[in-house]
Parts: sequence; C-alpha cells; structure tokens
Amino acid sequence: MKILLIGSGGRENCLADKLVNSGDVELYAAPGNPGILNFAKLAEIDINNFIEVSTFCKNERIDFVVIGPEQPLAMGIVDFLEEQGIIVFGPSKKASEIESSKSFAKNLMRDNNIPTANFSVFNKKDMDSAISYITDLTYPIVIKADGLAAGKGVVIVGDFEEAKQTIEEIFYGAFAEAGDTIIIEEYLQGEEASIFVLTDGDDYVILPSSQDHKRIGEGDTGKNTGGMGAYSPAPIVNSNVLQKIEIEIIKPTLQAMKQSGRKFKGCLYAGLMIADDSPKVIEFNCRFGDPETQAVLQLIEGNFAQLLFSIAKGNIKKEEITLIENKFASCVVIASKGYPDKFNKGYEISGIDNLQSDSIIYHSGTKKEGNKILTNGGRVLCVVSVADNLAESLEKNYRTIEKIDFEGKYFRKDIGKKGLLKL
Ligand code: AMP
Ligand code: GLY
Repeated sequence: MKILLIGSGGRENCLADKLVNSGDVELYAAPGNPGILNFAKLAEIDINNFIEVSTFCKNERIDFVVIGPEQPLAMGIVDFLEEQGIIVFGPSKKASEIESSKSFAKNLMRDNNIPTANFSVFNKKDMDSAISYITDLTYPIVIKADGLAAGKGVVIVGDFEEAKQTIEEIFYGAFAEAGDTIIIEEYLQGEEASIFVLTDGDDYVILPSSQDHKRIGEGDTGKNTGGMGAYSPAPIVNSNVLQKIEIEIIKPTLQAMKQSGRKFKGCLYAGLMIADDSPKVIEFNCRFGDPETQAVLQLIEGNFAQLLFSIAKGNIKKEEITLIENKFASCVVIASKGYPDKFNKGYEISGIDNLQSDSIIYHSGTKKEGNKILTNGGRVLCVVSVADNLAESLEKNYRTIEKIDFEGKYFRKDIGKKGLLKL
C-alpha cells in the first residue's frame, strides 16, 4: 500500500514508524524530517499547494493520505483531496473547527451537555461588554483566542487588571485574526490527561490515555511549550474516569458532530481536566497530539496502516489493532536551550548514530547536512521507551538521553513524576 504522510514533527516520525511497520507499506512524506525520512521517501511538494499534493497522489498512485498537523486540516486539505477522489485520513474543514474555532467547540459542548468549563464568547466589536463581564468574576480566569495560535492563545490571568490588559492585547492583534473572538472561561482545578479517539464518525477506538507536560520547567513551571514529554497510560484515567469520558464526552461529541453535518473522521483528541474522578474538556484537537502520540502508539499492536485506511474510507475496522495492556510507554523531549522563547539552531547532534540503547529516537526539529544531523527547532528529539512499568520506561529514556548531546541540550528531568506518585 502506498501512503503519503503530511507533516514534519516527532508525531509524524512516530506515525511513519507505525505505518511502515504495519507491513507492505511504501511511505512518502512531505515535508518530512531526517527521522521521518528513515522510513519514507521524500515527496518534493509544497504541502500548502493542494493542487501539487493531489497531482503527486495521482501520479504516484497513492492509496491514501495521512495528515499530521492541524493547519492543513483547518485550510481544507481533506475536502480538496477528497473532491479529487483521493482517500484521506483526517477531518474535513468543517469538522476540524472543533479545534480551529474554540467558540464552535464550546458551544457544541454547551448545547450537548458535555462537561467543560463555564464560558462566554466575545467579539472584538464587543470589547466593552467583555471588560464589564470580567469585573464580577472570581479569579483566576482563562482567556483564549478563538482561532489557531500555535498553542499560545491561552492566557491564565490572576486579577481584573491582568485580564483587561490581556483582552486588549488580544483584540489589538496579539494573535492576529485568531484573536478577533475570545472565550473567557472558568479556571479548572485538577490534573490533565489526553485521550485520542480514532473514529470514522460513527464507531471508534479509544487509544490508551496519556499525559502531556506542557510547561518548560520542572514541577510544571514556566512558559507553555508544544509539550516536553508524555507517558501512557495515565493512572489518573482509571476505569471509572475512562467510562465517564466515553459516555459523557466521546459518544455525545461524535453524535453532535454528525448531527450538525460535521461528521468527524480521523483522530479526535480530547484534552481533559480531571478532578475527583470527574473529567471536563479543556479543548478538542482534530489530530494526533505531540508528544503524546510518540508514547501512545507504542501500546498498540496490529495493522495500524489498515486501521487508518479503513477510517479514511469511512468504515472503521477496529479489529485491525489491539491495545497492549500491562505495559507503559513514555517520551522525553530534548529541546534547545531558550525554547519556547528565542533559541539557536544548527548545532551538531552527537550520539544518535549507532546508538546502543533500548529506546526509540524520533526527530522533531532536526536537519541533515552531509552526514551530520543538526538541531533545527525548539523541540529537537523525542526519546521513547516501553517497559513493564512506568519507572523503568522513564529510566530507559534518561539513560539514553545521557548518550546524546548537542550545544544547549535541555530536557525536563521530572517527566512521568505525577504518574509515578499515583501507582
Ligand atoms: P489549550 O491550548 O486550550 O489546551 O490550553 C493550554 C493549557 O492551558 C492547557 O493544557 C491547560 O493547562 C491550560 N488551560 C486551558 N484552559 C484551562 C481552564 N479552563 N482551566 C485551567 N487551565 C486551563
Ligand atoms: N500535546 C499537545 C498538542 O498536541 O496539542
């Protein structure tokens, strides 16, 4: 089977691994990265030019396309390719609004009694109403830009003055048009977890739960990042919580999407806050999460490529995979010093050639120059290990990280700590 994979991060490196290791798969990738290209041939196409993508698929007789990141989904790549008769894993533009419009997602949840933080929506034309609304609230509160803002559009504010300033900054263009509408919402206490649901819009498979580490600093301090590590499964998602997630969140969300003409096909990602065994939705994403995918997909067996193909065709074959129980997987991200603010690129990475270790290395932000692999992003590499218990999988990762080096190498040493405390 010939597959084209769109994307260039650690998530796509893991997807490439799992697709190719499904057997009988010839993989192409665009734009790819050196890690992805260990599994795939480079498709020399501009992924923002959908005509080029579709011409490539037709010329190469691609059986189906897998879309990694949210931007092409929000731009309608699935709709465009499907109109050309190409089979695609990923939601339509309208269905991907569950991520690209937070106000759409929040209203969908309110209308269908799906547990989430209380909220109000304001347009920049109503700045005065937004300011008067925040006068009587109990702080902290959360202010969110409606549209895609590369994970930066969420601000937790501690008092009225900070809230007012944040609203003004967003409406004056801090996140461009993504901030023309804002959501002001209740601050939720609890512990976060991520759930990925692979679905054709009717039926679904819930993958093992996971927990991301969004902050740059140990002890969940400092700025938000794309994610500094993850582990799976997350003990906070016990069987009682998982049942609630399925009944109160997943089923009604898929049904509501279908009823509103936005049948969701692909990976629905629910970002949850869990307190006292009660899950609430923080956000939905319309794609696999990064870095959770790198851990979660280690805990499935079977033919992942056929599963995604069946979903892309609209008729999920759940039996293509089985979930591995009684194992843990974890992922530690190695980043560039300075990330998520300014950082330098272009440093040579040593230790990944002929690496003797039990871990898997996925590339996030690297480039190849001659025989050398150089740093080329904030998040550089993901180190992933599987073991019978969480502690051992983390130890394997940290042992591997010692063998890899580059100037400005930074990683969190406390990935998985919250999980270990619960076991
Ligand atoms: P999002 O981009 O919506 O996932 O938000 C980024 C991060 O902000 C989340 O992972 C949470 O840590 C935090 N966050 C977002 N919304 C809330 C909320 N209502 N209450 C508490 N924390 C939140
Ligand atoms: N891990 C967070 C995200 O993928 O959005």
